Amino acid sequence: MNYKINTYGCQMNVHESEKIASILRGIGYTDYENSNEKDYDIIVFNTCCIRDTAEQKILSHIGELKHEKKLNPNLIIAIVGCMSQQDGKMQLLTEKYPHIDIVLGTSNIDMLAECVLNLKQSKIHTYLIDDSERPEINEGKNYYRTSGANAWVNIMYGCDNFCTYCIVPYVRGRERSRTVSDIVCEVTVLINQGYKEITLLGQNVNSYGSDKKVTGADFAELLETLAQIKGNHRIRFMTSHPKDLNSRVIEIIAKYDTLCKSIHLPIQSGSNSILKAMNRGYTREYYLNVVTKIRAIMPECGITTDIMVGFPGETETDFEDTLDIIRNVAFNSAFTYIYSVRKGTVAASLPQIPYAIKSERIQRLIKEQNLLTKISSKACEGKTYRVLVESVKSVGKVSGRTDAGRLVTFDGGEDLVGQFRNVLISKTQSASLFGTIEEN
Ligand code: 5AD
Ligand code: SF4
Repeated sequence: MNYKINTYGCQMNVHESEKIASILRGIGYTDYENSNEKDYDIIVFNTCCIRDTAEQKILSHIGELKHEKKLNPNLIIAIVGCMSQQDGKMQLLTEKYPHIDIVLGTSNIDMLAECVLNLKQSKIHTYLIDDSERPEINEGKNYYRTSGANAWVNIMYGCDNFCTYCIVPYVRGRERSRTVSDIVCEVTVLINQGYKEITLLGQNVNSYGSDKKVTGADFAELLETLAQIKGNHRIRFMTSHPKDLNSRVIEIIAKYDTLCKSIHLPIQSGSNSILKAMNRGYTREYYLNVVTKIRAIMPECGITTDIMVGFPGETETDFEDTLDIIRNVAFNSAFTYIYSVRKGTVAASLPQIPYAIKSERIQRLIKEQNLLTKISSKACEGKTYRVLVESVKSVGKVSGRTDAGRLVTFDGGEDLVGQFRNVLISKTQSASLFGTIEEN
């Protein structure tokens, strides 16, 4: 019995798919990738709905399975995660795609094993979106992990920020932070197991422990506690919200070698009126001040971002403010998006701007950022960085990341995967760095 999991969306989902794999392995399934036939008996779609493009891609993949199900009626098809949780989506899924066997919302994934067994033993289909408070799936268990030397660790779930364009608070619910002792325990076990990189996950890690009485610490205190765990490893975290990234957190990142000098700090827009309409809770001046603070004590800190164009009401001047701020900050790299209407969010009811304008702006934005990324990478030439080798890229070549999150490729083989090496950068090409190992 084999399983296949199709994962869409963010790192949170990548980690959740590891939890899903653990649930399926618990009832006797194995990864189809490891089977000779590369065949599967159950396929789980762990979905995303952050933008319409993500949804359309998933729906088209689900549609393609209709034929497969006809040939193999015993194939189990399960849809879980953010898209299933969206208002009205379950009805659409079950009506338009009757070959789906199981639909579970974001807080019901822990029921997957039970649903699969019910289907196999009693032909009972489960379509369940239950909003009531439930324990997070499998929290604290020894997961089946699939990210090599990196291990993901949730420190919190959900989001309370309600940025006006964003569906996440509706599908992931209110903020819930795990306790410090739970997190420290999980991270310590992972380090003892030999994981070399721990990535702390949360929609807005900086608001971790907003109720310190429950968690035992806020984010700065959690980071400091984790940073003091001994071992040959490093710790990352994502995502930071500019409004909540305070000086204490910045100082702690600077203080400890175990903490990566790397911050993903989504800016979204460079225009104050658009930031206000987005309910982001900061101005461009505030954002620039945060960047200045980071760079003052960590000049080499990698700062990356998310930028959106075409939010309702965005004028040419607003867009130029975005171009201006990205030149000003000079991010290492950026994820760029066209605003996508999400039903049920505040911005969905505002007058929308034409697609042609959005499309023209994203092209200008990408062109500008590509240039900035190239310059930022070029500044690394001639310098040495400590790289954690992640994988074999091609015959005789491995790749990994610097502390600041830059991708580096150099000569090496399988034996280097999961190890740290000092690499002298000789050449760069857009966001990619190339170099050679320096002997110690
Ligand atoms: N349209 C386009 N991009 C979006 N994001 C979130 N919601 C939307 C939307 N409706 C982007 C933001 C966020 C990233 C994860 O996805 O830039 O930081
Ligand atoms: Fe969405 Fe804003 Fe929450 Fe990020 S902080 S998940 S963009 S609502």
